[in-house]
Amino acid sequence: MRPIRWEADHLIFLDQTLLPHEERYAEATSYHQVAEAIRRLQVRGAPLIGIAAAYGMALAALEAPQGEMEKFLAHLEEAAAYLAATRPTAVNLTWALARIMKCAYRYRTPQEATAAILAEAKTIHRQQEEADLELARFGASLLPQGARVITHCNTGALATGGYGTALGIIKMAWEEGRITHVYLTETRPLLQGARLTAWELEQLGVPSSLIVDGAAGVVMARGLVQAAIVGADRIACNGDVANKVGTYPLALLAKEHNVPFYVAAPTSTIDLACPSGSQIPIEERSAEEVKRVMGIPTAPKGLDAFNPAFDVTPAHLVTAIITEKGIARPPYQKSLPTLAELEGVAHG
Ligand code: MRU
Repeated sequence: MRPIRWEADHLIFLDQTLLPHEERYAEATSYHQVAEAIRRLQVRGAPLIGIAAAYGMALAALEAPQGEMEKFLAHLEEAAAYLAATRPTAVNLTWALARIMKCAYRYRTPQEATAAILAEAKTIHRQQEEADLELARFGASLLPQGARVITHCNTGALATGGYGTALGIIKMAWEEGRITHVYLTETRPLLQGARLTAWELEQLGVPSSLIVDGAAGVVMARGLVQAAIVGADRIACNGDVANKVGTYPLALLAKEHNVPFYVAAPTSTIDLACPSGSQIPIEERSAEEVKRVMGIPTAPKGLDAFNPAFDVTPAHLVTAIITEKGIARPPYQKSLPTLAELEGVAHG
């Protein structure tokens, strides 16, 4: 299953809003269509958003005026700003766009730059696949034999275009016999857990139980899990972690019940230019997502609703941050820059 792929001169993506009941691929032939797919969560998950945006820039290059380099670059800058505005929290988005723009400025003609941008987008995609596998190896090694774990949202192949981050660790640990059972939260309001993680785990045959988000306390209090593993959309320099709303309460529960709380993310999710979680922009989405369940209205029509898509887990609740370069432990101000700079991935 590949949630995204480039074909000749356009992008093909799996429409994640229709899963698990319908597996429908759609195509994007313009960067505006890519932006729309990201905004609507047809393509989602921090790493996949970055990859999609990179391919979106390849489409922008194909659409751009092919005469003067200056006009070509101006068109690309406009496309990058447009794509960057789709979802503010996942830093992989601006990271991928910056990488593509840096690549574009290295060339003298639009033709050369267009070919190089597509090659760079494919490299970003391939590197994510490689990073996922490395990260999964590091993460699986942390889990005891026969562990039961809890996870939140979807961090699998659907979210990265590769093996997955937190869910990649879970998959690998299950294959190694370390994990025997997974508790997955449904992840309101858009049910990425119930629809997407459940779908991925079922395909692999991993024994799992779906729970409502509010049942995580029962799972922890009864000692049903030995670890919590989640992904991230942005990790600040001090180790504060922005991830799907509901992650912070899960981390508090883990602390209370002495359950290790692991965050898994590629180094492209670490934002060294961001000093702490309070500086991370948190996307707020439409009230309608809260007032409906899969499109069906559940709340009174005129009611107000607050819909932050992410929350910030303070670093002191995070046991370790697992990346493709290794495992960072507190104090994160020291361990994260060391890891990130290994590959020159520092932002800013
Ligand atoms: O709103 P989404 O579905 O894009 O949110 C996804 C998450 O919060 C994931 O945990 C995060 O992006 C990491 S994906 C490997």
